[in-house]
Amino acid sequence: MSLDAAGVQYFNLDPSLYVRQDVWEEERRRIFFRSWQFMGPVSSVAAAGQYLAIDIAGLGVFAIRGKDGVLRGFKNVCRHRGARLLAAGEGSCGLVVCPYHRWSYADTGRLVQAPWYGRDPAIIPEDWPLEPVHLAEWRGLLFVAVDPATSLIEQLGALPAELADEPLETYVSTDQATVDFDANWKVYTDNFVEGYHIPGTHPTFYAAIEFEAFETTAHDGFVKMTAPPRDGLFYRGKWLWMWPNWTLSLFAGGMNVSRIDPVSVNQTAQHYHFCFADTSQAGAPVRRLSVEGTLAVVKEDYEVCVATHRNYLAGGYTPGPLSGRHEKGVQYFQQRVARSLAM
Ligand code: FES
Ligand SMILES: [Fe+2]
Repeated sequence: MSLDAAGVQYFNLDPSLYVRQDVWEEERRRIFFRSWQFMGPVSSVAAAGQYLAIDIAGLGVFAIRGKDGVLRGFKNVCRHRGARLLAAGEGSCGLVVCPYHRWSYADTGRLVQAPWYGRDPAIIPEDWPLEPVHLAEWRGLLFVAVDPATSLIEQLGALPAELADEPLETYVSTDQATVDFDANWKVYTDNFVEGYHIPGTHPTFYAAIEFEAFETTAHDGFVKMTAPPRDGLFYRGKWLWMWPNWTLSLFAGGMNVSRIDPVSVNQTAQHYHFCFADTSQAGAPVRRLSVEGTLAVVKEDYEVCVATHRNYLAGGYTPGPLSGRHEKGVQYFQQRVARSLAM
């Protein structure tokens, strides 16, 4: 038996929670729309007209820098018949123009024009601005929330203290990557918040750290994993996961920050920003090593997660015990999910 310090035995979550459409709907409503979601570096929306569009569990939102210098957030949904205004990603525009019938919106969200609509004195453009969402910044990172239950700083909990000495603002985003895979977002999160799987799943990574010294601790708002790296590993030996769905892993002179997006009950997309202090041409090979090294490690995770998810879908799995030594992060994450879903 693996008991924690208080003598409590924890078991894995009921696998039906990973494959039920109604649970995914509740998670969207109770977790993803009520929490702060990592969008990207705020530097990507520094100039007037620059925007950053992401999906949160299927709902499109974007942040856009106004000509007045103010950064505003909106749902990526046209007020006419609901078309998607901007493709996901970064870009720049004067007006936000809907591709469907060409309604156009100012960077303040105001409806500027509804061309060819016909004269209708009852329709007043001021009544049809884009629907706003909330934005907040922390240490150069931009977050968005549809209907936040708390402030961003409350959500971050003890994280600011944990990273107080890390010069996050000096790291510039140089590379982005998105990986899609067929597993529920919780299957992947369960995987991210423990190092127990490293010997079995990541033989090369295992050889590059002192696994016996791997430590996992759960804190207010985040899970921390550390291990002393051996020579030549691109990771610095500290990996963080933050409630409900973003990660920050340290490199020498950099980091990757990612968001785990629940695309559907059976699909997840992970969006990475790789950021470095040294953005010079000479530093490119070192950066490439960190980017490619990360993507190679996580590819091994996706494979095991997809196979696990298939077993959850198929039924026949009864929740097994979680290791008090290695799976404290899993306990923390699963308890927060269970609490969020409690009716
Ligand atoms: S849906 Fe956008 S203009 Fe018609
Ligand atoms: Fe892994």
